[in-house]
Amino acid sequence: MEDRQGVARLLALVTYNMGDNTGIVKLDQFVRELGPRLSKLSAAEKKESILQFYNRLEVSKADYARYVHPDPSQKYTRNLVSTDDSTYTLLLLVWSPSMESPIHDHPCDGCWMRILEGNLEESRYVLEENKDSCHFAVEAGENGAIVAEERPRVKSPGGSTLRCTTKENYEEGSIAFIEDAMGYHKIRNTSDSEFAVSLHLYSPPFDQCKFWPSQGNGDVSLTGNVCFHSEYGELVQR
Ligand code: SIN
Repeated sequence: MEDRQGVARLLALVTYNMGDNTGIVKLDQFVRELGPRLSKLSAAEKKESILQFYNRLEVSKADYARYVHPDPSQKYTRNLVSTDDSTYTLLLLVWSPSMESPIHDHPCDGCWMRILEGNLEESRYVLEENKDSCHFAVEAGENGAIVAEERPRVKSPGGSTLRCTTKENYEEGSIAFIEDAMGYHKIRNTSDSEFAVSLHLYSPPFDQCKFWPSQGNGDVSLTGNVCFHSEYGELVQR
């Protein structure tokens, strides 16, 4: 009798643990569990653990419809789904047809991107030092997507080139991961007629990131403030 109770307790424990790491997760549960999960993980543990969790996410159009704010006058819109201001920010990006981001970095432990609608192309780059050229670091404010006005600030010897290392096409359902140690990237909507939608998770959140406005030219970098087109479904008033 005691043996049977012991087996039942063990089975309950195994089932509980499996339930914790397997099975479908809907968007509201995903959002609820992100902070508690991330706060227990080291930077090195996050990548795989969050990839597994992201893989379990089952999301329908109805679940994310309130965050979809297309704007054909913008290359893409950045829509805040959720953040705890300490371990993560979750954004829904709506990409206008044929539009792309500039090449940019991710000053955090990583960016997990899942394609919800359409096809996105990711081009990755590494920054390579040149000999005999000049380096201009410039800083600027930013509004909406990463675009900003140039204000030359620092001039130093050196210089660099952004070399494209890979180009990958991601279809609906694909998940991609990048961190700065792997390089920088730009994302492009490959359709010339349809908007594309993707879900981006950053951990921990960051307020600014660096981007390079001229293709392949590592000499000019800009710093853009992170801001949103909508927050929690509501358009941000400007
Ligand atoms: C962006 O955040 O504006 C670009 C997309 C990304 O790399 O996550």
